[in-house]
Amino acid sequence: MQTVVLSDAEEAIRALKAGELVALPTETVYGLAGLGLNPEVLAKIFSAKDRPTFDPLILHIARPGQVSQLASEVPHDARRLVDTFWPGPLTLVLPKKPHVPDLATAGLGTVAVRCPKHPLMRKIIEKVGVPLAAPSANLFGRLSPTSAQHVVEQLEGRIPYVLDGGACEVGVESTIIGFMPDGVYLLRPGGLPVEQVEHMIGPLKRLPAQSVETAASQAAPGMLMKHYAPATPLVMIDRFEELKPGDGVLTFCGRPQGHLGPVMELSPRKNLQEAASLLFQALHQLDRSGVPRIAALRFPEHGLGMAINDRLSRAAATHRPA
Ligand code: TXA
Ligand code: MG
Repeated sequence: MQTVVLSDAEEAIRALKAGELVALPTETVYGLAGLGLNPEVLAKIFSAKDRPTFDPLILHIARPGQVSQLASEVPHDARRLVDTFWPGPLTLVLPKKPHVPDLATAGLGTVAVRCPKHPLMRKIIEKVGVPLAAPSANLFGRLSPTSAQHVVEQLEGRIPYVLDGGACEVGVESTIIGFMPDGVYLLRPGGLPVEQVEHMIGPLKRLPAQSVETAASQAAPGMLMKHYAPATPLVMIDRFEELKPGDGVLTFCGRPQGHLGPVMELSPRKNLQEAASLLFQALHQLDRSGVPRIAALRFPEHGLGMAINDRLSRAAATHRPA
């Protein structure tokens, strides 16, 4: 199968309606989209990504009000988040309605729902007329794509279509908040700063990071340690003194003096939003540059810096000897 890059949303809509997979732009990262309530289509998504079926998918809706088509219950605090932050980079895990396929939720009693902000994505969901399942359009455990080109690099020959909608504005995946029987959890820091959520509904519970082996039995399979990895080994450092000659360097702002090797400074003007939007692109670039190692200087642990550090430490964990 050859992967065709589309520039026309109508062609994407036609293919989706026919049950085909199309990688689509969202404001966070590109998603590999298909009919979200059709188990055969869901199975194609897992197989195209080489994704284990114990890792459930996010269902994307066109309008916030459609959440009640998928969730059996929307708690008061979830409703407040919906009203304030949707459409946007926020995913809510809520008790599911019975008609939501087990394959979408990995057999869990909950469903992950997101109303994305990207105008193209919303128009497409609206016109297709059903929620679209869309995991990030990368191979399982690999870097998320923020351009159509990134999608082609990983999924060429595995999916029929990519709709080119330019670069993703936010650049990291959505923040995931889980409404569980024993409390409200931060399941994944992401494009919506956690502080904004906590400011509205109070402190969130945190889960300890998990290994791949135990993930199947856990409430939040998305917290797999092995995730978001470039092929090149990656380490996180706290000081430039830890650099080795030849390292590909990733920093928030500031450059090491006299370093021999490529340096990607994500935001000389110290803007975490800008840094997040360039993160995966920079990692893709360093990965392709042939350096023996990528060294990432830890980001400030607040706002989008939290999501960036999360992705970097997962990438580092992938290469750590067991
Ligand atoms: O920004 C995003 O969220 C992107 C764009 C395309 O919307 N999508 C995305 O999907 O990042 P994905 O599949 O790469 O990550 C979704 C995460 C998974 O790691 C999964 O484990 C978690 O959400 N998840 C989905 N349903 C869940 C559930 N019922 N309970 C707990 N975690 C869930
Ligand atoms: Mg993903």
